[in-house]
Amino acid sequence: MAPKTNGRGVQVEDTKICVVMVGLPARGKSYIAQRAQRYLTWLSIPSKTFNVGNYRRHDAPQPSADFFDNSNTEGERRRIFDATNSTKERRKWVMDLCAREGIEVLFVESKCDDEELIMANIRDVKTTSPDYQGQDPEAAALDFRNRIKHYERVYKTIDEDGDESHYTYLKMMDVGSQVIINRIQDYLQSRVVYYLMNLHIRPRSVWLSRHGESMYNLSGRIGGDAELSPRGQQYAKKLPELVRQSVGGDRPLTVWTSTLKRTIATARYLPANYNQLQWKALDELDAGVCDGMTYQEIKDVYPEDFVARDEDKYNYRYRGGESYRDVVIRLEPIIMELERSEDILIVTHQAILRCIYAYFMKKDQSRSPWMNVPLHCLIKLTPRAYGTDEERYQADIPAVSTWRGKGSTAKHEDPIPEASMSH
Ligand code: ATP
Ligand code: F6P
Repeated sequence: MAPKTNGRGVQVEDTKICVVMVGLPARGKSYIAQRAQRYLTWLSIPSKTFNVGNYRRHDAPQPSADFFDNSNTEGERRRIFDATNSTKERRKWVMDLCAREGIEVLFVESKCDDEELIMANIRDVKTTSPDYQGQDPEAAALDFRNRIKHYERVYKTIDEDGDESHYTYLKMMDVGSQVIINRIQDYLQSRVVYYLMNLHIRPRSVWLSRHGESMYNLSGRIGGDAELSPRGQQYAKKLPELVRQSVGGDRPLTVWTSTLKRTIATARYLPANYNQLQWKALDELDAGVCDGMTYQEIKDVYPEDFVARDEDKYNYRYRGGESYRDVVIRLEPIIMELERSEDILIVTHQAILRCIYAYFMKKDQSRSPWMNVPLHCLIKLTPRAYGTDEERYQADIPAVSTWRGKGSTAKHEDPIPEASMSH
């Protein structure tokens, strides 16, 4: 659900959209739905995913392939929640239902005939599904392939017969190598569609690091464009080794830094064959009139602001500067580009890293500004079918803590366990 605007940014009413996935089994419907939800959640747009298979399992926990045969009427009755939405009748039923409730429908179809990819998907996620718990994986894969055959008999791709052209839909063929977009009506729909068009499923990782300790970090000042401290420079020298260790070879990465000296200096010793790019969008959260101050100075000069920020750190906007919410909006192009890319190493700042991390790990936006992101630590995130794996590589080079607890004005403070990123 999202506030609907009249095109000039004026809110007129709430839009409710139901994104309805279409496609044969093992075409990535759950995967795509979950990714869309993660993206919307990150943008603070309330959304939920409903996996129909989870409802069906209450009633039929471990059905064999025959259960999914369209001529099996008992199976059909119990599959009332079937979510392949692969017939015209079914799509019309969904449309009528949503229309009655005043909900917009966006059909998203994943069409894929690459048999090798489908078998890989089955082995990757289906043989480990609760449907096949305790069963031999090869037998499970075969049964699942038979399940798909039942659907293939009745499957009709959207608008195959030309009588669904009034529907709003995105049809993705072969993981987005070809797409058809039909009757997209508003901003939110176009955002979702654009996001989904950027997704790929090639294996890759994203590495995140803060810059090395800076002179401002030592003195407890925020913002600015300070040089690295001697320990920060040590980290910069150590970073290539940490990266090599975590990559597990000499595969070159693309490196993104901010435009500030401390991130550029941190990336300075990475191998020459790493392509480096500076993004203004990766610059640290703009502290406006508080730039260059310590937290104590902020409390002394702007006591009300100091309290207001602690009360709602995600939404608080520094006078003349930014809030975390503002940062998320300016990071959107970064997220889109990340989705399109392969291996990327991002060297950035505390607040920015929190926002990017929250996207990958689906962290609550009200809590992400309080996360502890230690200096001199490389984080490797590897997106998987239904989540993101995380590994950490410590440089073993001491650094001050720049984490700050609610109400505190300490220059350097030990983070409390609740602030750890894994919470
Ligand atoms: P089911 O109908 O059984 O619920 P599903 O269509 O929801 O199946 P998923 O469980 O989402 O399928 O399948 C996940 C797998 O699909 C992952 O291995 C993922 O890499 C892969 N995948 C993601 N997007 C696509 C796509 N556009 N085309 C084909 N495979 C994809
Ligand atoms: O202290 C380092 C720093 O990167 C500052 O430049 C920035 O203002 C701050 O962290 C952001 O963290 P917080 O939102 O916790 O103040």
